[in-house]
Amino acid sequence: MAKLKIIIAPDLRLKSKCTPVESVDAATARLMSDMLETMYDAPGIGLAAPQIGVAKRIIVVDPAPEKGPPRPIKMANPEIIWTSDENKIHEEGCLSLPREYDMVERPDKIRVRYLNEKNKQQEIEADGLLSVVIQHEIDHLQGTLFVDHISSLKRGMILRRLTKQKKLGRTYYETEPA
Ligand code: NI
Repeated sequence: MAKLKIIIAPDLRLKSKCTPVESVDAATARLMSDMLETMYDAPGIGLAAPQIGVAKRIIVVDPAPEKGPPRPIKMANPEIIWTSDENKIHEEGCLSLPREYDMVERPDKIRVRYLNEKNKQQEIEADGLLSVVIQHEIDHLQGTLFVDHISSLKRGMILRRLTKQKKLGRTYYETEPA
């Protein structure tokens, strides 16, 4: 396994549309494991392939890595096939937008179809944090960030802060804790 570098916004690679995986072969399964290791190390609860510079429809999630045993889910070509009518508002952050958080409204429950790391088609229903994380990561696959769901005023403020950090040559991992 290998730890990968996470791309920080603003970056055009985070805005690209990802292509589907033909089938989950050994290389894709290895990439999923590397993404998971990178996510746990960050630490985070979800990571999408474009965040490590791979424009493919692959995500990994584990909404509760600190509570009990790890329960990772690796998904290729995830597709939301049902959403509840009821929405919920949840605070979101993103490993590509370090230290930035805001409230995002999304469907409360979803049903997702995907290929797992063994190229087997799966379907799961998710609610709560798992639902939020999966929707957030699937957004990444079409170049959508959580800030695209909030007001342009707030989005502008967040992106200006991140741009400033980049100009200073800093990354999140090198700055002092807030
Ligand atoms: Ni994200």
